[in-house]
Amino acid sequence: MRILIINGPNLNLLGNREREIYGPRSFDDYLHHLKTQFNGIHFDYFQSNHEGAIIDKLHDAGMHADGVVLNAGAYTHTSIAIADAVAAIRTPTVEVHISNVYQREAYRHHSYLSAKCEGCIIGLGLEGYGLAVEYLIHRFRGAQDLEGIGK
Ligand code: DQA
Repeated sequence: MRILIINGPNLNLLGNREREIYGPRSFDDYLHHLKTQFNGIHFDYFQSNHEGAIIDKLHDAGMHADGVVLNAGAYTHTSIAIADAVAAIRTPTVEVHISNVYQREAYRHHSYLSAKCEGCIIGLGLEGYGLAVEYLIHRFRGAQDLEGIGK
């Protein structure tokens, strides 16, 4: 099973950026932990500060990934184009936010992506990525079992 994790703008600065909100851990360090935790899952990781690059990667995921974990950062609140890309691909996508955006500024309360994603995990820190991965694995195995029943 292949899972693609996409992090949007400024998330390359995790570990340094606003630590009181996003915590002290770098994403590279967390990704290493995820790979150990979910041994046997193939992870691809992509971070970009550019909207179009995120859209291109989502299109690519439509062909090559079994699940996507998407934290589009601030584009969550502005990008109809990323929402359209999520809707355009068949790959199940889970929206993740490290911080609880509902406890923050009002402009972070709306997401263009939530309605297009299969579900959302918000405010549980980096652990949210792991929970999203766990869900995608269960979903994938469930879909495989159903295929088996049909045969
Ligand atoms: C974020 C929340 C967004 O509002 C913010 O712009 C980010 C990070 C989060 O993970 O909590 O860059 O997506």
